[in-house]
Formats: sequence, structure tokens, C-alpha cells
Amino acid sequence: MSFNFFVKSNITFGNGSLNDLSDLIKRHELRRVMVVCDSGVKAAGILEQVLQQTKKAEVYTVVFDEVIPNPTNEIIETAYRIARKEEIGGFIAVGGGSSIDTAKAVNILMTNPGTIRDYAGIGKVKKECLPLIAIPTTAGTSSEITNVSALIDTEKIIKYVIIDNKIVASDVIADPKLTITVPASVTAATGMDAITHAVESFISNQSNPLTEYHSLKGLQILYQNIVKAVEDGADLEAREQMMLGCIVTGFGFSNANLGLVHGIAHTLSAHFGLAHGMANAAVLPYVLEYNAPECSQKMAEMARMLGLTLCGNIEEDQYVLAGEMKTLIKRLGIRTLSEQKISREDFEMLADDVLREPVLSFNIRQNITKEDILAILEKAF
Ligand SMILES: NC(=O)c1ccc[n+]([C@@H]2O[C@H](COP(=O)([O-])OP(=O)(O)OC[C@H]3O[C@@H](n4cnc5c(N)ncnc54)[C@H](O)[C@@H]3O)[C@@H](O)[C@H]2O)c1
Ligand SMILES: [Zn+2]
Repeated sequence: MSFNFFVKSNITFGNGSLNDLSDLIKRHELRRVMVVCDSGVKAAGILEQVLQQTKKAEVYTVVFDEVIPNPTNEIIETAYRIARKEEIGGFIAVGGGSSIDTAKAVNILMTNPGTIRDYAGIGKVKKECLPLIAIPTTAGTSSEITNVSALIDTEKIIKYVIIDNKIVASDVIADPKLTITVPASVTAATGMDAITHAVESFISNQSNPLTEYHSLKGLQILYQNIVKAVEDGADLEAREQMMLGCIVTGFGFSNANLGLVHGIAHTLSAHFGLAHGMANAAVLPYVLEYNAPECSQKMAEMARMLGLTLCGNIEEDQYVLAGEMKTLIKRLGIRTLSEQKISREDFEMLADDVLREPVLSFNIRQNITKEDILAILEKAF
């Protein structure tokens, strides 16, 4: 057995852990920081709590609160120009994946030349980045611990990823209390994103025993808590478990990568702006059905881990998880592709673009055809 497994994060976890932020800022000896967030995080009163901490740390603070869902190259360049002008020495990313990914990307440009699209792909960042403290406010992407930033190139109309160990946040403050204000539909979508990460990384052709351990355990924690968190947003215990499940899963998927579900979701978001988790969840069961024959034992193992009933015949058991995911997305109010305003006329174009997605190379089933993708889109319609 031989494999590589990368971990970097310094994680402070727990309700109220946001109060540790001022000490962390002092420990990094930061003089000028940029807080990166979006309007939703600001409206939820979380930005204000962060600013109390920066005030306590007596650090000069610039707020960039213009992050958008599915952040674009243009947003990165805008935030970077401000950060450069303000001679920022470190970042505090507070929000969901969109805010954290934006901060990671801006941070690359602070110490590396060129434009952000130059860093698309794996391992292109040359110089170390500035300190970045990530404070997740959704339980979904795991961006707080991953080596990934996912961005939209509005010219090429693609969602691309920058994958580099240099962009991992220096510190994470994971305070489950901050997720209490997340609306139910966002809790469902982000939670299903996390479940998709767990499942896709578990069956990825890059998985190894250590990633599998994280993916499987993460899946179990997330599955046991997602309905509770969606149906009662004030259930702090469920919120805490969802945040924990995301971190556990994140260690798995940032080492094992993802697969076809994300290939389709990225294409849907690039063309039609679908929320990342909603796009993943809508196609997840059907991609699982498609992949199952290539990883039947692993499909059954995940179902067993979730306590689902198996009959002992692998031909049937390989589809139990996919069946359960169909039930789950219905219960959580995940919208079908037609309900997300996708029309059948776009399927051909979408399928062509999905085939160009680099993440497909990690999918357990290879030789994916346009017809395969069209069939999946039709089922998710
Ligand atoms: N870097 C990675 O490893 C990674 C992994 C998966 C996905 N992603 C990317 O992350 C992005 C999606 O991130 P996301 O799903 O967390 O959504 P998001 O960051 O876009 O946030 C979704 C919505 O929830 C609101 N919100 C966030 N926290 C809130 C809170 N506590 N209270 C009230 N409202 C709140 C936001 O304002 C926003 O309107 C996508 O661009 C996706 O591609 C990145
Ligand atoms: Zn995702």
C-alpha cells in the first residue's frame, strides 16, 4: 500500500469559537486585513461579529462584501485591486464556499503575477500566499480546508478550478452557531453538496484507504443530520454535526477528487447560474445509477454504512444508495432541472461542455459518452 495524503489546516471548532478570532489575528501579527464576504452574510449579522473581533485585535480592516454566488474572474480582479491598493497583509474569509473561494483566489494574486485564470489547473501557484483565516458560515463546500478555489470564466463560460496546496487557509474557525441563520433551501443545497463530495470521493479512481475512511465517515455524519438541520434550522446539535461532517469529508475529497456529478454541476452553474449544491443534488442519484456497475461493492458499502436495507444480491444492492438519494432530495425540496429553469433544448450543448470537464478523469466509470450524459440529464429533468 502506498499513497500521498495532504493535510494542512489548523482548526478551531465549536460554538462561540468566533471569539478566538482576535487572538488568531494577533498571533499572525497582522496589521492590515481584508474581510471577504457577501451581502447575505452581512445581512445575517455575521460580518458585524467579525468586525468586533478585528476591532478588538486593533487591526486596520477593509471589508469586501461584494462576493457573488459562483464567483467570477471579474470579482476576483476587483477585490484584488482593492487589496493591493490597501496593502493588505492577510485575509479573513467569512461565508460559504463563494466567499472563501474568492479570498483564496485574491490571495494568490497578492504574491503571484498575472491574472487569476493563469492559475487554472493543478499546482500552478509558485509563491506562498498570505495568511488566510477561513470562517465557514454554511455546512457544505469544505472550502475552509480544501486546496481548491472554484471560479467562473465568463468569457469561456466554464466553471474551472484552481487546485494548489499553497492556497489552503492557514487557520479555520468552525463555529456551528454561525450556520443557524442559513435558510432551509440553502441548508439543503449545501448539505447535499457535502454528501455529493463524500460519495464522489469515495468512489473516485483517486481514492485511497485514508481518503475512503474520511469520505465514508463524513457521509454517515452528514446523512444522519441533514434532514434535522433542514427541518429545524435552530437545531444546534444537527448544525454542529453538519459542520463536522463537512470537515471530515473535506479531507477525503481534497485528496481523492470528485467525478461526473461535479462535471455536470459546474457546466450547469457556468451557463445558467444554478446554485452549486442544487445542481449537484439534482443529478446525484442518476450519476450514481450510471456509475454503480463499475463500483458495486463500494455502493453497497456506503448503503450499509447508512443503515439501509440490503438483500445480499449485489446486482440489486449496488442501486440501494441511488434509490435512497432520490427519496432524500425529494424530502429536502431539491428542485429538478426543469424546476431550475433548464430546458431540454439546452441538453446537447450542456452534454458537449460536460465532456470537456477535467474532473471527469477522476470518475470511476470512464469512456463517458454524450449519450450517457443526455440520459442522465433526462432523468434529472
Ligand atoms: N473550494 C472548494 O473546495 C469548493 C468545494 C465545493 C464547492 N465550492 C464552491 O463554493 C460555492 C458555493 O458555496 P456555498 O454552497 O457555501 O454557497 P454560497 O457561499 O454561494 O452561499 C449561498 C447563500 O447563502 C448565504 N449565506 C451563507 N451563510 C449564511 C448564513 N450563515 N446565514 C444566512 N445566509 C447565509 C449567502 O449569502 C448566499 O446567498 C460554489 O461556487 C462552489 O463551486 C468550492
Ligand atoms: Zn461541490
